[in-house]
Order: sequence, then structure tokens, then C-alpha cells
Amino acid sequence: MPKWLDNAVFYEIYPQSFMDSNGDGIGDIRGIVQRLDHVRSLGCNAIWLNPCFDSPFLDAGYDVSDYKRVAERYGSVEELAYLFEEVHRRDMHILLDLVPGHTSMEHEWFLKSCSAERNEYSDRYIWTDSIWESPEGMGCVRGFFERDGSCAVNFFTHQPALNYGFAHPERPWQMKPDAPAPLATREAIKDVMRFWLDKGCDGFRVDMAGSLVKNDPDGSANIAFWQDFRAFLDREYPDAVLISEWGEPDKSLAGGFHMDFLLHFGPSHYNDLFRCEEPFFSRRGKGTAEAFVRTYTENYAGTGGSGLICIPSGNHDMDRMRRFLDPEEMKLAFTFLLTMPGAPFIYYGDELGMRYVEGLTSKEGGYGRTGSRTPMQWDDSPNAGFSTAAPEKLYLPIDPSPDRPTAENQLLSRDTLMREVKRLTALRSEHKALQSRGKVKFVTSGYPLVYLRTEDREDGERIAVMINPSERTYSLPKQLNGSVLYSVGKGVPHLTHDEQKLVMPPESAAVILL
Ligand code: BGC
Ligand code: CA
Repeated sequence: MPKWLDNAVFYEIYPQSFMDSNGDGIGDIRGIVQRLDHVRSLGCNAIWLNPCFDSPFLDAGYDVSDYKRVAERYGSVEELAYLFEEVHRRDMHILLDLVPGHTSMEHEWFLKSCSAERNEYSDRYIWTDSIWESPEGMGCVRGFFERDGSCAVNFFTHQPALNYGFAHPERPWQMKPDAPAPLATREAIKDVMRFWLDKGCDGFRVDMAGSLVKNDPDGSANIAFWQDFRAFLDREYPDAVLISEWGEPDKSLAGGFHMDFLLHFGPSHYNDLFRCEEPFFSRRGKGTAEAFVRTYTENYAGTGGSGLICIPSGNHDMDRMRRFLDPEEMKLAFTFLLTMPGAPFIYYGDELGMRYVEGLTSKEGGYGRTGSRTPMQWDDSPNAGFSTAAPEKLYLPIDPSPDRPTAENQLLSRDTLMREVKRLTALRSEHKALQSRGKVKFVTSGYPLVYLRTEDREDGERIAVMINPSERTYSLPKQLNGSVLYSVGKGVPHLTHDEQKLVMPPESAAVILL
């Protein structure tokens, strides 16, 4: 595993909403370069950039029409390569978003694939043999093309599924993963990866990584698929990093991914903590972390104890945490995020406590996700410093709240969320036990939440993290007493007069060196 991942803290940049450098109302690559110092100043040393490739933008760029071109609205391939340089100059790294599962219907491969005449691309996507048969268990697009067949889709109906074969083919048109056409699709994606790695990116966050080979209930065909990619990278680009949107680290790490995301859907219980009626991190103290701790611990064991599971503060697909928690509660949530193993991911603006903007009309296939995708709030100048365009020209409106947080006011005021984020990343960088590969062991899974982080060697540091989001005071075993490395909230843990117990004050968190 590349060394830099040991202490990586990622920042997710949604390019259309981060910084507009040329006043057209849409964020762009030059804008990102202008604001890299903000990212660095947070203590983030790595970036995940959402798709910035040619696209009709029916799914905000997750519908790629040319993997090797940068969408004009963002800039050019040269500018993206320049961004890579500027990132590296700051001792940071950057992952692009690889969307290998599907393309836009406008992709040249798909246009050729739709032809009635057989050609090199006829089997690049999953097609049934006849328009009257739709692929079972999947959506499809059909009736638009001269070709007699239905094409399977992955997400929206305009996202035809690339053909990597079926682990257990059941119909004549379903191919084995090692049939020539699925292998050709693989090679085409490797070619895309080569293209960007040659330009200087450090690797990829891989969209829908666990479901490329279809009908693969135990995941073994997808694992084998990614092992082939890892072998290719090890040969040609040994330092290239892969992080998966898979949600089953036992499988994704076996496939050669360095880390896997904790997903906000499926069985992870991630949102029990941040996004539900009674989130664990709410001061109401009515939530529960039990199911989360249970599933996390299982997954953790599945990583062979390496714990390379990335926990995001949010992303472009889920409600902002701020919709459920206020900035004080978010300080405790960030204490958790930034003291867990694996690499933490901060979604742009979450470090300020940016709001989910209610009531927006869907933009580029965002639907309910649109409110989490509004422009970054930099300062109090027009459009919050995001763009010089007229407000109605902006990609999405700025949060209209009069008290919206900005990077500038968070920097100038005391006790802000952003300041805590910086303190926490600094703390993390000073203690190996708190970094990606430090071990974790949960002591409790209720209020207060307590876990131990330890270095992976005998005489290494032992650190306890204790977080009490609730309004109640608790007492803990005195063995958890030690020197306070970090504390936030309404109080600092302290021993009772008789020194028999450690008092955990309400709405507070602490990181303690044992
Ligand atoms: C992305 C979404 C996208 C979907 C389809 C997800 O993993 O994060 O934003 O809509 O894939 O590509
Ligand atoms: Ca622009």
C-alpha cells in the first residue's frame, strides 16, 4: 500500500460547485487550483474529484460520454494535468472518479453498439437478443435503436451497462467474464486508467465497483475481476491507488482495493449515527450506535484487522449532515470521523457545516441529492465568493440563509467547526495510533461511545476516544483516565473526588493518551 495512505485525509470536491474561476456560474478546474490552499489548510492531504469528463450531465457527470476528455465547462486535459501538479506541489494526492459500470448513451461506444450491423462495439454493453426480451432484474433501454435488442442499464435508464460478463450466465446473450467481448471492455477501461495515470493522477475512486460482473451473488467474479486490474496496475503503475464504492471490505480488499467506503445505503447502519430521526450524534441522546458498531466490527474483522474502511462526512449522494445535526453536534461527529481507522473523507463544505438547501428543483439528475450540491461558501462577497456570475446564472443557488457559514467567517471566529476540524487533523497527523492502520476496539456502543486506538506494535501508543453527544453526564472506569490530547464541547473528562471514576461531561468529546 502506498505510504501516503497511512495518514491520508481526503477532501471530496464536486467540481461544478467548488469554485468558478471564469464567471460562467459553474465551478471549474482553475477554480479548484485557486482554492487548494484552503483544502491543505484543513489538514487534508488528498482529494477525490467527482467526474469531470465529457458528459451530457444527466447524472451530474456520472454519465460519461468520453473518458479521455475533460468537459469543456471544467477546462481541458492540460488544465487537469496542471491541477495534478499543483496538488503534488503541496504534498497532496488526488484520485479521479472512475465510472466503469456504464456510460452515457452519447458515448461513441454506445452509438456504435446500437447499430444493426455487427461491429467491434456490438457486445461492449449488455444486450439481449431481442427487443422483446428485457434483462431480468435490471432496467433497460430499448426501442430507440435499429438494433434488435434491449440494453441493460445500471442506474438511470440513460446509463447503459458495460459488458463485463455474468458469473453464472443463464441466457444465451449472457457471456462469461472471460469471453472476448467482456475482456475487451476491461482492456478499454485499463486504457482509460493508463491515460489519466500517465497525466499524473494518483489513482481512482471506483464507482459501483462491486457490481460490474453481473449475477455474482458471492462476489467472487468481481473479486477476480479487480485482481486482474490490480495485477495490471502492479505491473505498470504500482503506486496507483484504488478506493472502492463497494461496502464489503472483505471482498473489495481481496480484489486488491486499498480501501473501501462505508456506504450510506445497504446494511452498514452508518446513517444511524448522522442521518435519521434520532441520530446518535444528536444531543437528544435518543439514538443508538449499537447496530453500527456491530456491523463495523464485523466488517473490520473482514479486513483482516487492517480496518481500511473509509468513513465519509457525507457525499454528493446523501443529505448533508447539517440537515440533522447542528454545528456543535457536528464537532462531536467530526471527532469520531477523524479518529477512526481507514482514511476519512470530508465532503466539501461539511467542514463549515454547510446546510442541505431545501426546496431546490432537481439539477442534472440530482433529485433529492440536489440540496447537498450547492456552491461552496467562501466569504461574504456576492455569491459567497463562489462566482462573479449573476446569481441566476449559478449552477445552483447559494444557501440563502443569512447566517450561512463561510470559510472566511469560520477562520475569523472562535470556536468554529472548521477550527475543530483543523485541530483534529493535526492531532491525527501526530499520532500513528489514530491513523489509517491503527487498530480500533470499541469499549462501548452507547452513550458515551468509547473506543481504543492502538498502534500496530507492542510498545506503541494507546489512545482512548470518548464521545458523549447526549445532555447527560456519565461515569466511566478510571482506567480510561490519562493525559488529554484533545477535548471539545461542554467539559473535559475528570476523575471524581475519590478518584474511583472518570466523569464524562455532557455534549463533549475527548481523546486521551493512556
Ligand atoms: C454515484 C452517483 C451516481 C451513480 C450512478 C454512484 O455511485 O456516486 O452520484 O448517480 O453512481 O453512476
Ligand atoms: Ca467556470
